[in-house]
Amino acid sequence: MAWTQNINIKSKAEVELMAESCADLVKVFLELRKGAVKPGVTTRELDAIVHDVIVGQGNIPSFMGYHGYPASSCISVNEEVVHGIPGDRVLKDGDVVGIDIGLIKDGWHADSAETFFVGDISPEVRELCETTEASLRDGIEQARAGNRVSDIGKAIERRAREKNYGVVEVLVGHGIGTSLHEDPQVPNYECFTMPNPKLEVGMVLALEPMFNLGTKQVRTLADEWTVVTKDGSVSAHYEHTVAITDDGPRVLTDR
Ligand code: MF3
Ligand code: CO
Repeated sequence: MAWTQNINIKSKAEVELMAESCADLVKVFLELRKGAVKPGVTTRELDAIVHDVIVGQGNIPSFMGYHGYPASSCISVNEEVVHGIPGDRVLKDGDVVGIDIGLIKDGWHADSAETFFVGDISPEVRELCETTEASLRDGIEQARAGNRVSDIGKAIERRAREKNYGVVEVLVGHGIGTSLHEDPQVPNYECFTMPNPKLEVGMVLALEPMFNLGTKQVRTLADEWTVVTKDGSVSAHYEHTVAITDDGPRVLTDR
């Protein structure tokens, strides 16, 4: 049986509403960039900033309560890949911190993540992060009408293969709109077993590569959320919400 895809195509007006939602999410990241992510701070304190900015905007933190998720952001340090629950972990010099945030404005979701550097990062980890971000850009470049979902994954994985990074496969990008997760799923590698629909104008996708310094293997901690690398190696994660337009990809969460 072919897997049924239910891809919601957004009108131009709807894409504009998503652009507004995403513009507010960009402001949350810009607030964090004002030096909040520094040695000595706990991930809970960073989540409080995220929560206060989103609520102050009159928006809804979309992760809070999602399948019971208890915070407004996912904060994932070093070997944590994604879905780290903010808590008592204190950031220290040399850490890399993936911060993933979602909000809802007027019913429309925005979803984005970036990896912050705490103090001085090792050259190896810096290269991992820069490569992951560059690969996200490579994927975005393929988010064009007429291409297929697999063109995105194929572009995203290229730099990781060159550098022998682990490309996390069990978590994928996704459609986004009036729900946080919509069809299609968007693997970060060329996948031959998932539906591979053609891309069309009006699709909006959250692209989110996760690369590891070690293998692709991950596991989930006993808290049932935090995904870590099996080998304890450092992981990096970047995510943008991207609309496919007549003029090509439009990065709605661009900073
Ligand atoms: N940003 C994540 C994603 O893209 C969502 C985090 S899961 C949640 O899928 F529970 F925190 F919402
Ligand atoms: Co996402």
